[in-house]
Amino acid sequence: MRLFKLPFKNNKEDILGESESRLVNIPKHIAIIMDGNGRWAKKRGLPRVAGHREGMDNVKRIVKAANHFNIEVLTLYAFSTENWKRPSKEVEYIMKLPIDFLQHYLPELVEENVRIQTIGEIDNLPKNTKLAIMRAKEETVNNSGLILNIAINYGSRFEMIQSVKEICQDVQSGKYQIEDITESTLEERLYTSHIDDPDLLIRTSGELRLSNFMLWQAAYTELWFTDTLWPDFSFEEFEKAINDFQKRKRRYGGI
Ligand code: FPP
Repeated sequence: MRLFKLPFKNNKEDILGESESRLVNIPKHIAIIMDGNGRWAKKRGLPRVAGHREGMDNVKRIVKAANHFNIEVLTLYAFSTENWKRPSKEVEYIMKLPIDFLQHYLPELVEENVRIQTIGEIDNLPKNTKLAIMRAKEETVNNSGLILNIAINYGSRFEMIQSVKEICQDVQSGKYQIEDITESTLEERLYTSHIDDPDLLIRTSGELRLSNFMLWQAAYTELWFTDTLWPDFSFEEFEKAINDFQKRKRRYGGI
């Protein structure tokens, strides 16, 4: 089954008609663990950073694809809280990628009505990386199209611990009673408080784990794995993942 092609965001109704468009079970939020850059480079006898560069270029292609399929939020795991353990030269290189990416592509992203957001501790990023990201967020704040949500210096456990600490403070100060704590109390304090949970999570490169990525948010997310290394992950494979999602039955614990 091929997907309906939706060339421009917000045109869904115009192209398909209201009743047909409801049949298009497109995930609203797709999250991707972009894995395999190092192996992509190694296979070609190149330094690992060449894989990251190629991976960055693929971000552009997949953002375009997400826009094409009318996805509302695309969350990309660019750097985890654990990735600081890598050799400092590699970390330095990865930290420059958002700067390069935004220098090259921001005008095009603005034109495509993409809004840039982040999850993670951006205050602890190198100054120039943080500045480039802040500027891109500001420049795209009024865009109403795809949200490109970059997970950078992101760790799900840290995110949850921070939220729990805040709740404890609120309990200590008397703002909350312990009995009042619900799922929403924690959710409201996550980086993702303003966006829905991912519907579909894709991980490339054959690894079958979540690696501290959106552990709370992915409770009912459909998972999709591929052996393809991130730099080779194509428009066609992205479409295949969405196609498979369209066939899944989501029961959220019900029957
Ligand atoms: C994992 O592959 C990849 C990363 C830790 C970095 C991902 C970053 C990018 C693709 C660039 C992002 C840029 C923007 C602007 C969002 P790996 O190095 O662990 O690969 P390996 O498992 O083959 O060694």
